[in-house]
Amino acid sequence: MSQKSYKIAVIPGDGTGPEVIREAVKVLNAAEARYGFSLTLTEFDLGGERYQRTGEILPDSVLQGLRGFDAILLGAIGHPDIKPGILEKGIILRIRFELDLYINLRPVKLFPGVECPLKDKGPEHIDYVVVRENTGDVYTGAGGVMMKGTPHEVAMQTALYTRYQVDRCLRYAFTFARRRNKRRTLALCGKTNVLTYVYDLWERAFHEMGEKDYRDIKREYYHVDAICMWMIKNPEWFDVIVTGNMFGDIITDLAAITQGGLGIAASGNINPEGVSMFEPMGGSAPKYTGKNVINPLAAICAGGMMLDTLGESVAARAVEEGVMWVTANKVRNLAAGQMGYSTSQVGDLVARQVAG
Ligand code: IPM
Ligand code: MN
Repeated sequence: MSQKSYKIAVIPGDGTGPEVIREAVKVLNAAEARYGFSLTLTEFDLGGERYQRTGEILPDSVLQGLRGFDAILLGAIGHPDIKPGILEKGIILRIRFELDLYINLRPVKLFPGVECPLKDKGPEHIDYVVVRENTGDVYTGAGGVMMKGTPHEVAMQTALYTRYQVDRCLRYAFTFARRRNKRRTLALCGKTNVLTYVYDLWERAFHEMGEKDYRDIKREYYHVDAICMWMIKNPEWFDVIVTGNMFGDIITDLAAITQGGLGIAASGNINPEGVSMFEPMGGSAPKYTGKNVINPLAAICAGGMMLDTLGESVAARAVEEGVMWVTANKVRNLAAGQMGYSTSQVGDLVARQVAG
């Protein structure tokens, strides 16, 4: 019997990206050896340095090349000397749009041993998933500017959603809630009291689909401002939250801090029918670059999510359990430079658990 093999594109990217990716790869290699599959990794040089060196952001040929992989693992994009927006739009957002990675899956789980900023909340209270729509909303870039630099400057940035985009995201979220089989509850996060076009569309589509195809899944609705309060006060209420791109971006940073911060929060940019990309939620952290102090656990968790999406769910669980063992027994403080271990030592600890 031939073992399964997967072609993985690896984009270490900027800042601390390469350091955390190195550890994620270490853990993936440990899983590979134990769980009987093989990964062929191909590295892509993208990010601020290439841009400064060559003027290239994401050449079309590279983008085309990425389509030929089973999955993509990304470290971080963002460079202190390059104006915000250029690399983010040119690399991360362009990959999301062109590969149609229409789901941004962000698990929010407080691991044992991790200090939580919320009073009296522990791992039994914080375990939910945000399904963030990843291709529409203000992220489409629809808008423009007129009379720039004058007192009459007009700036416009439009939130845009099609029924098709909303439906495919909702279907993913309902199905996810059913498969997860926890509280079998899907909460829509919107702003129907102000965004009376866009979130009216979401709300109608949500109830229509739920009524027709997912009667077994309980439906809830929260305004985005209110959900920010409840995510702090009663995170145990949540199971699966579905929302648009912009609100999803914002509430998942809030959620991340309740699970220990960006050192641990991972995300998957998913096209359920195509090539998906996995990344730690944190950025390139220039001030920690090259110091071997950044927390690699988020990148390691992103690698675990990647395995799950590839169908290697047993290995994916082993990665998560390895990370949980490390947070419970070794690394209590997840902040860069305060872990009590170096970046590579944390990678070693998880890899050893996964290798068994
Ligand atoms: C994220 C990031 C990105 C986003 C940026 C870097 C474009 O904040 O993945 O949450 O806004 O989606
Ligand atoms: Mn964000």
